[in-house]
Amino acid sequence: MRTQVVIIGSGPAGLLLGQLLTEAGIDNVILDRASKDHILGRVRAGVLEEGTVGLMDRAKAGSRMHSEGLPHNGFSLTFDGRDHRIDLHELTGGKRVMVYGQTELTRDLMERREAGNAPTIYDADDTCPHDFGGDRPHVTYVKDGISHRIDCDFIAGCDGFHGTSRKAVPEGAIKTFEKIYPFGWLGILSEVAPVSHELIYANHPRGFALCSMRSMTRSRYYIQCPLDEKIEDWSDDRFWDELRRRLPAHHAEALKPAPSFEKSIAPLRSFVAEPMRFGRLFLAGDAAHIVPPTGAKGLNLAASDVHYLFAGLLEHYRDGSDAALDAYSARALARVWKAVRFSWWMTTMMHRFPDTSDFDQKIQEAELDYLTHSKAASTALAENYVGLPY
Ligand code: FAD
Ligand code: DHB
Repeated sequence: MRTQVVIIGSGPAGLLLGQLLTEAGIDNVILDRASKDHILGRVRAGVLEEGTVGLMDRAKAGSRMHSEGLPHNGFSLTFDGRDHRIDLHELTGGKRVMVYGQTELTRDLMERREAGNAPTIYDADDTCPHDFGGDRPHVTYVKDGISHRIDCDFIAGCDGFHGTSRKAVPEGAIKTFEKIYPFGWLGILSEVAPVSHELIYANHPRGFALCSMRSMTRSRYYIQCPLDEKIEDWSDDRFWDELRRRLPAHHAEALKPAPSFEKSIAPLRSFVAEPMRFGRLFLAGDAAHIVPPTGAKGLNLAASDVHYLFAGLLEHYRDGSDAALDAYSARALARVWKAVRFSWWMTTMMHRFPDTSDFDQKIQEAELDYLTHSKAASTALAENYVGLPY
């Protein structure tokens, strides 16, 4: 088989790139090692920047997002019993974010892809990119015990942190940067109205908590937990009690406990691989970088990578120029590192670290106090949260 672009990974990065390419008339095949149902069963991000919303529109996959997604103009930061609203709309001159689950965004992109008859191969085993350093790149995989090969012009490695693409790069050609945080997030989904109509990011002596949502009848809540915590030790009652204790009284009283239907623990990590291009192989999204979820940037960074990569591929096929492809890694990484910095900063400001000294604790309190009293500091938070320009 032959195509123009092979995309490894059918997550947000791969699907968005695939849909933009298909709309532009550029042939592509997506390979994923998981099944469609498995991919749609993963509960992950929930907050979209305007740039991500714009890319969904450009991919002609935005209509359900606009009718069912929830535009948010601000969020709450709570600490020391205080509740401070960050007015994103006011501080950024009219920008906002969209609360819409990654699962829904993925479903919308998959449906568009199927409607356009663009090929996706699920349950593909042993996918491997080859010869991307030369001019005959191809990808091999095994499906139902039979080996296949797809020849192509370019390979997009959109296969997440544990994927095969980054691992296929010769060791000396890649440099990685990593920070592991000494805690995780225990998250639940529950069919119950959210405690507040906007998100609440809570700093509390017992640990961080986040009240988010998927709709006005479905809540998504997280609490900071030790890394060795076992999910089976967390009954719903224990989760609700712990969440309530980390919120200021007026929110705690409004919290409505209900059974959870999803519960999982995610570790927190910052990770960047440089560069993001190796000959005819391009990494995008979690395959190249991971951020802790505190700033809601993981999915949005996958989208901004796709913006730059799509621009490069379009210029190659339409204008015969490789200037934008040559600039891809530098452009993407410049934005990635700013989001890595922001996510690290939000994480540091909002969590309790096991080894915090009295001095570190006072600095954290001063940071929050400054942030909530300084328009300049609040503006810096808001402009990063809604997403830096592409
Ligand atoms: P992925 O979504 O990981 O997609 C990669 C795809 O590649 C998957 O479908 C996978 O099956 C496939 N794949 C992997 N290996 C192979 C292989 N060898 N061959 C073929 N296919 C392969 N971000 C937030 O902003 N907020 C959150 O609350 C949040 N929560 C998260 C919770 C968890 C548990 C995780 C893992 C991430 C979370 N994120 C969150 C981050 C966000 O979900 C990711 O940044 C986003 O999914 C990145 O999209 P992606 O397409 O790059 O990668
Ligand atoms: C969600 C996750 C985040 O990490 C965040 O910062 C905001 C919202 C969510 O899953 O809804």
